Amino acid sequence: MDAAHLDRARQQFADRNPGSRRYFDEASKVLPGGHTRTVLTHPPFPLTFVSGEGATLTDIDGHHYVDLLGDYTAGLLGHSEHRVIDAVTTALHTNVSVGGIHPAEAVLARLMCERFGLDRVRFTNSGTEANLMAITTATQFTGRSKLLVMLGGYHGGVLYFASGPAPWNAPYDFVLAPFNDVAKTVELIERHGSELAAVIMEPMLGSGGCVPATAEYVQGVFAAARAVGAVCIADEVMTSRHGRQGMMKMLGAEADITTYGKYIGGGFSFGAFGGRAALLDQFDTTPGARASVISHAGTFNNNIATMTAGGAVLGEVYTADVAEAHFARGEEFRQQLAAVCARHPLPVSVSGFGSMMSLHATATVPANVREAFDRDHVLQELIYLGLLARGVYTAFRGMVNVGLAHTDDQLATGLDALDDTLSELSALAS
Ligand SMILES: Cc1ncc(COP(=O)(O)O)c(C=O)c1O
Repeated sequence: MDAAHLDRARQQFADRNPGSRRYFDEASKVLPGGHTRTVLTHPPFPLTFVSGEGATLTDIDGHHYVDLLGDYTAGLLGHSEHRVIDAVTTALHTNVSVGGIHPAEAVLARLMCERFGLDRVRFTNSGTEANLMAITTATQFTGRSKLLVMLGGYHGGVLYFASGPAPWNAPYDFVLAPFNDVAKTVELIERHGSELAAVIMEPMLGSGGCVPATAEYVQGVFAAARAVGAVCIADEVMTSRHGRQGMMKMLGAEADITTYGKYIGGGFSFGAFGGRAALLDQFDTTPGARASVISHAGTFNNNIATMTAGGAVLGEVYTADVAEAHFARGEEFRQQLAAVCARHPLPVSVSGFGSMMSLHATATVPANVREAFDRDHVLQELIYLGLLARGVYTAFRGMVNVGLAHTDDQLATGLDALDDTLSELSALAS
């Protein structure tokens, strides 16, 4: 695809969004890059949103978008889930910040343990922090320090492995394994066995392009890790939305510790890690309970807004039954997206699992992060800009998430917008 087309599409985007441009330019004077979430960056500048309702977003220039991103999975419920907003509003009228115990914390803990089959759980403020604490749990338990991670994995701002460990990662001793290659990964686990504290993996690379692991991979890797005494950590910060108990269980694998985040906080900052009692009880600081304990402090670990929101999310809104039905709806939508892609003579594919998916400017569906990043970057951006021009908001990198608030009409709008965009781009390419 010709770069001149991209220049023209960027210019049209800039012309349509003068308010977002102004906001971005002003914000950039005090915020390096204009914001505090690197993932939002794209040329010429990202949009500024001022409101949302259901699955619709409105930007500062007054354009309305079907929100097909759902805040990178955190926005599963849409923008106005009143059962959550009402519960939090009521709670905040009671108390805002308590330097003590309050009932909402154990309510959410019980819901999580029952839903996901955990013995114990602890709360953090983000998925990043949940993973850091899960790693600490494993290193303290095993007395070992190495971690096996997957190429293309993402476990937080300081646990980033898009093309190897990022230089700004937390300073752990990482062993990098090829995602979805059972034999090579098992060989690495056996080679580093006696030093390995944990294997940490997403059942589907989320940031790495919505590439699901095979059941054979997760089962084989966890079995090999257990055989050498390493702790199996499942990062389900994004994927716990799938099915009744999360994606790992759907793939037939059982983790020792699982980490959570995103949608469970109902829009508030949230993270959690939970699993087997023998591991989690290291945090039991009751005087006299244990000879050695791990201290885990955090001013906002049990903050009222998040604990209350989480209780409403898992207790009322996103029950196991709802999650099961939502998985099926997501599968159906991904098939429809794939059918649209197949109608056009362009290298475009769609990967994913359940309600999480990604559009790729690749001729075939990627099986790992290298294949996902080996895309036609110009075409990828043109698709993103084409969807925006037609009132559909997705991720710059191609991520699409079906949420609870989407109406059938809004999903149909998404499909039509993709069809129309690909028709226009096919004509330009020929
Ligand atoms: C799989 C996975 N783990 C961890 C994180 C980090 O969560 P947070 O952004 O809440 O720190 C993310 C965020 O995108 C994620 O996708």
